[in-house]
Amino acid sequence: MTAVRSDFTIEQNWQGYSEEEHAIWRLLFERQQRLLVGCACREYLEGLGMLGVAADGIPDFRRLNDVLDHATGWRIVAVPGLVPDDVFFAHLARRRFPSTCFIRRRDQLDYLQEPDVFHDICGHVPLLMNPVFADYLQAYGEGGLKAFGLGHLQHLARLYWYTVEFGLIATGEGLRIYGSGILSSAGESVYALNDPRPRRLRFDLRRIMRTRYRIDDFQEIYFVIDDFRELFDATQPDFAPIYREIAALPDLEPSACLAEDRDYTPRRRKKIGPHLSAAQV
Ligand SMILES: [Fe+2]
Repeated sequence: MTAVRSDFTIEQNWQGYSEEEHAIWRLLFERQQRLLVGCACREYLEGLGMLGVAADGIPDFRRLNDVLDHATGWRIVAVPGLVPDDVFFAHLARRRFPSTCFIRRRDQLDYLQEPDVFHDICGHVPLLMNPVFADYLQAYGEGGLKAFGLGHLQHLARLYWYTVEFGLIATGEGLRIYGSGILSSAGESVYALNDPRPRRLRFDLRRIMRTRYRIDDFQEIYFVIDDFRELFDATQPDFAPIYREIAALPDLEPSACLAEDRDYTPRRRKKIGPHLSAAQV
């Protein structure tokens, strides 16, 4: 058993993975890659390619860290499972992403309630190659430490859930996924973009902080950003007055509809007329 350090980190022990564990990674990776082209946002796919995360087996964190640290100053640290909130935030605030090491069993390919190495590495780490998203996650960690002290963790946790885990982004090519909870789920990748049942609202910090979420099924509501700069800018104000403001308002169920909700509607692509070139429209 690997020793757990005081900051809850452990050694990944990459040499200790069995052939069966690498084979499960291959299965998950190949299946997900077939789905993600045309579903995942460009920044995610670029990060995945630059990191060299591939189908050949569970990656060695030391190799990934060489690339990641050089690109944005982030590092992956191995942890035995979910860590206490304050520990998690402290790692993020220091640009250290806590990743689990174990991989799900073959009979858990489609559903796993807790994060495993496939979710953490394939879902979360590629976007840490993007400088703006990398800054957002560090700012989130710093905000988490403040929220912890102010007793508003629940409100801040919803921001993580509806962005880092289940966020959608509007692009010139249409709606795309950046949330790792969706990216590491074959079923939800299709559902989140194409199913008519869930609501898709424009990013709204206060609305997100008031909205409960479910962990046992696909989401009933998603929030759509225009770009990662919007996320980073959202974490810049002091959240203390915002917490006070929303603490006076009721929490919202994921199915709730408010008159002020801003639904996401896909941008219309301009038609190219017979006398216009694409460059003119
Ligand atoms: Fe996650």
